[in-house]
Amino acid sequence: MEFNYRINPGNFIRFTLVSLCMVFFLFSLDTTEESPGKLSRVHSHLNGSKSCSSCHDREHKLESAKCLECHTALDKRIKSGKGYHRNKSEDCDNCHQEHKGKGAELIQWNPKDFDHDDTGYTLTGAHKKIKNCSLCHSGPNSFMGKNSRSYLLKKIKCITCHKDAHNKMYPVCTDCHSIIDWRVDIWSP
Ligand code: HEC
Ligand code: HEC
Ligand code: HEC
Ligand code: HEC
Ligand code: HEC
Ligand code: HEC
Repeated sequence: MEFNYRINPGNFIRFTLVSLCMVFFLFSLDTTEESPGKLSRVHSHLNGSKSCSSCHDREHKLESAKCLECHTALDKRIKSGKGYHRNKSEDCDNCHQEHKGKGAELIQWNPKDFDHDDTGYTLTGAHKKIKNCSLCHSGPNSFMGKNSRSYLLKKIKCITCHKDAHNKMYPVCTDCHSIIDWRVDIWSP
């Protein structure tokens, strides 16, 4: 029996192309890319190599949807078109940089210079004069985390923060009150 060792040039090219494709495929499956640095304090429980996929896809690209799988309260706000992140659902890393170590801040901002209109909820009247954000953003109505501060609120009705002086007799407070003063004589439209 005789073997034909002659290689057909067409087959050779095909064989080479298939091999190259396989090599590229294997490279694309490589999940051992090095981390560019330790994660921030709030995410430090995700430093291990098994956790990379909590934020990155198979090609190591950052995937915003994955961030929101953990940040469910924020995800709900975005989906309902509310809050500061309502128009920032992609490219989280434009503002939240990672891998800069435990001491690095994940949020770069100064709450004192924050323009509250960006949240979609304008502070008016007496609310505008309040200096201490925590008067509204703390307590059981907020989603305050164990290791981080949250500005998300569960409810935003007048009676969420104010006591109802009329025992549920008049549910729509703004029928008679403004945010200037509870006295009704100085009501102004
Ligand atoms: C908590 C989310 C999170 C986890 C977990 C995480 N990363 Fe990242 N990673 C980021 C963010 C955010 C950026 C973008 C950095 C920036 O813009 O400063 C990034 C960027 C990178 C980059 C730079 C390339 C690029 O796409 O910008 C590499 C490489 C990387 N990460 C690898 C890893 C590896 C390896 C792991 C696991 C050990 C890991 N990351 C875990 C959030 C994460
Ligand atoms: C009078 C109460 C009040 C005060 C004072 C107040 N806020 Fe708010 N803030 C709200 C309400 C109500 C919302 C919720 C808007 C919504 O649900 O759409 C909100 C939303 C926010 C959000 C967006 C949360 C989200 O859902 O994305 C941020 C950030 C925020 N406030 C920051 C601040 C900062 C910083 C200060 C202080 C400088 C401050 N607020 C003072 C009532 C207040
Ligand atoms: C334009 C800049 C910007 C972008 C883009 C952005 N963020 Fe933010 N993020 C902020 C600022 C400023 C705060 C602080 C105010 C606040 O808490 O809402 C914040 C706060 C947060 C918080 C804490 C929220 C709270 O108050 O409980 C989380 C979680 C978060 N961002 C995740 C994300 C994710 C996930 C994405 C991408 C889907 C994203 N951010 C995109 C600027 C940004
Ligand atoms: C595996 C779950 C998980 C993933 C994925 C995740 N986070 Fe977080 N993140 C957390 C936890 C837990 C905290 C701290 C909450 C607390 O204080 O209890 C946090 C806190 C934060 C904060 C608040 C930081 C501060 O200093 O107040 C921001 C901003 C944030 N994450 C952004 C992101 C972004 C952007 C991504 C995607 C790149 C992401 N997270 C992915 C779990 C996650
Ligand atoms: C997220 C919490 C929050 C919500 C929602 C809210 N307020 Fe306020 N409001 C405050 C805080 C905090 C103050 C300042 C402290 C105080 O006087 O109680 C304030 C002050 C006021 C004042 C001035 C009180 C005074 O004696 O000077 C009026 C009037 C007022 N709010 C009306 C309203 C009305 C009407 C609504 C609904 C449309 C409303 N508020 C919704 C938190 C809130
Ligand atoms: C039908 C009109 C009307 C409606 C609706 C109404 N109020 Fe009033 N409220 C009044 C009047 C009138 C006063 C007394 C005003 C004065 O003294 O000038 C008052 C006073 C108050 C005071 C001050 C009480 C005090 O002891 O100083 C508070 C707080 C108050 N209302 C909260 C609310 C809240 C919260 C709602 C919505 C759940 C509401 N009101 C709905 C008419 C109304």
